[in-house]
Amino acid sequence: MLVSAKEMLNKAREGKYAVGQFNINNLEWTKAILLTAQENNSPVILGVSEGAGKYMGGYTTVVGMVNGLIKELNITVPVSLHIDHGSYEGALKVIEAGFSSVMFDGSHYSIEENIEKTKEIIRIASEKGISVEAEVGSIGGEEDGVVGAGEIADPAECKQIAELGVTMLAAGIGNIHGKYPANWKGLDFTALAAIKDATGDVPLVLHGGTGIPADMIQKAISLGVAKINVNTECQLAFAEATRKYIEAGKDLEGKGFDPRKLLGPGFEAIKATVKEKMELFGSVNKA
Ligand code: 13P
Repeated sequence: MLVSAKEMLNKAREGKYAVGQFNINNLEWTKAILLTAQENNSPVILGVSEGAGKYMGGYTTVVGMVNGLIKELNITVPVSLHIDHGSYEGALKVIEAGFSSVMFDGSHYSIEENIEKTKEIIRIASEKGISVEAEVGSIGGEEDGVVGAGEIADPAECKQIAELGVTMLAAGIGNIHGKYPANWKGLDFTALAAIKDATGDVPLVLHGGTGIPADMIQKAISLGVAKINVNTECQLAFAEATRKYIEAGKDLEGKGFDPRKLLGPGFEAIKATVKEKMELFGSVNKA
């Protein structure tokens, strides 16, 4: 059964670890992430961008696939199905479709409009026990068409949004979606500490988890981060493993072209990446 992210994130914040949000793109991704969470006895959040939702055939298709896999694969660890950088309309659509968690990304609106819309999403979601993530400041780079300037969040604005009753808060602290450039200055821990001071016990979310060094991840967790989003790293691992298989000519050996074989190395590469992240985030055996 899908669950809200509230309990798993509050437990993570108290226990000083983080739950990974891994974005899904298709059945292989979803199955690999769910199996790895089960094998490692870890809670997990499946992230779906609006673009990926459309690609997979719509939100009800995604809900059907995820619920089916949870049942058929006997997944018993807590799983939350969450829209990533949802628009106002997108957040409402996934609530209807049966997601258990939503992100409403109102960071490109004025703070007043972000507050108004976030408040409305919280009202609708909370009637159904669905968790809500809001965003203040912005995450740099691009996440499936959502482009952010990488603006550091203002702690006073974070406090205003946190007080609305959000389950979790994403605040820009110099993090970027996609690969980090060589001249990246790193996470802004002064900003993170100020945001933590201003927002109290609300679990904080670190987007752009791909390529953040382990010491920065650990420091961020010690300063209140309880959810870390990873997308690009699974995509890179999948692509590399698939490329090696094809470049080695394995698709031409016997029935190596069978999609269940062709996609196998990429599937295993996602599993290995997710396991590594769960170990780094400290969520292993926390289900
Ligand atoms: P990366 O693609 O950089 O891992 O970021 C994922 C993310 O933050 C999804 O919202």
